[in-house]
Amino acid sequence: MKTRITSLFGIQHPIIQGGMHFVGVAELAAAVSNAGGLGIITGLTQRSPERLAAEIERCRKMTDKPFGVNLTILPAVTPPDYPGYIEAIVASGVKVVETAGNNPQQYLPALKAAGIKVIHKCTSVRHALKAESIGCDAVSVDGFECAGHPGEDDVPNMILLPRAAGELKIPMVASGGMADGRSLVAALALGADGINMGTRFVATQEAPVHPNVKNAIVAASELDTRLIMRSLRNTERVLRNAAVDRVVHKERQLGSELTFTDIASEVAGVYPRIMQQGEMDAGAWSCGMVAGLIHDIPTCKELIERIMAQAETLIRRRLNSLLQ
Ligand SMILES: Cc1cc2nc3c(=O)[nH]c(=O)nc-3n(C[C@H](O)[C@H](O)[C@H](O)COP(=O)(O)O)c2cc1C
Repeated sequence: MKTRITSLFGIQHPIIQGGMHFVGVAELAAAVSNAGGLGIITGLTQRSPERLAAEIERCRKMTDKPFGVNLTILPAVTPPDYPGYIEAIVASGVKVVETAGNNPQQYLPALKAAGIKVIHKCTSVRHALKAESIGCDAVSVDGFECAGHPGEDDVPNMILLPRAAGELKIPMVASGGMADGRSLVAALALGADGINMGTRFVATQEAPVHPNVKNAIVAASELDTRLIMRSLRNTERVLRNAAVDRVVHKERQLGSELTFTDIASEVAGVYPRIMQQGEMDAGAWSCGMVAGLIHDIPTCKELIERIMAQAETLIRRRLNSLLQ
């Protein structure tokens, strides 16, 4: 399948693995890229620009296909060394960067000068248009269904994608709720040029996370996620567990009085215990409603081939036959 996204990134299939904290490391990114998609290393999971440079090097040893780096730009009291991470990315020769969170404008000149294609992940039409106006090459539009931070507008992809497609000129990737060939065909029909998946790629053989995490996704239904931190305007979609129930309870109790400190023990620095040790109640972790569509733990190659085959069958047989 050829779309504006396969052409832009020089990949075989229009399928991207979104940046994922403590999941998107070299093993997963390389597996996705080797399967013809675009794998992405999560920049901030590497604790310093030097470590990120080493991780990119490790990934390059595992694949000769294009892969990218995610840089999540978060508001922080002590921000990470973003200029250092940008320098490490530029020096590494990586040709794709997925930015997410705040406006990446100040980092674009350095990335563009190095010939890097930038895809900005955002959750609203206005932010997608802003990304286009500042020179991003593509956008990844994350609907309300998505794992992680869906923004504060709560517009699901059935509305958000065609709204964004109607206004954007640059290629767009549909993100949030994507799991299979049906998702890909639907995304294309809604105006996207490809799909971005998070939760689905966590439940793969190559995702370097504890089996408990993969099994929790397989066991979960579409009803098992919760939105937390709304009152802090930092809404996150996470899998329900004991820690999340505590957060929800505190949010109900404290209302607009809630501060980050009240829930810090459930949300800050918990990823290593969950992803690496498999302590499933250690804290809140991002997971999408799409868990309800995930029933197995395939290799990335099996998953991507299955998606492409299902999409082709849907287009050639089901959709085409409706026109006869
Ligand atoms: C465990 C996990 C961690 C994530 N961490 C990040 C992150 O650090 N930065 C980011 O931009 N997106 C992050 N995401 C969001 C994904 O990149 C992607 O946008 C989202 O998962 C899409 O929704 P889906 O899970 O329904 O496919 C994370 C998602 C998951 C499941």
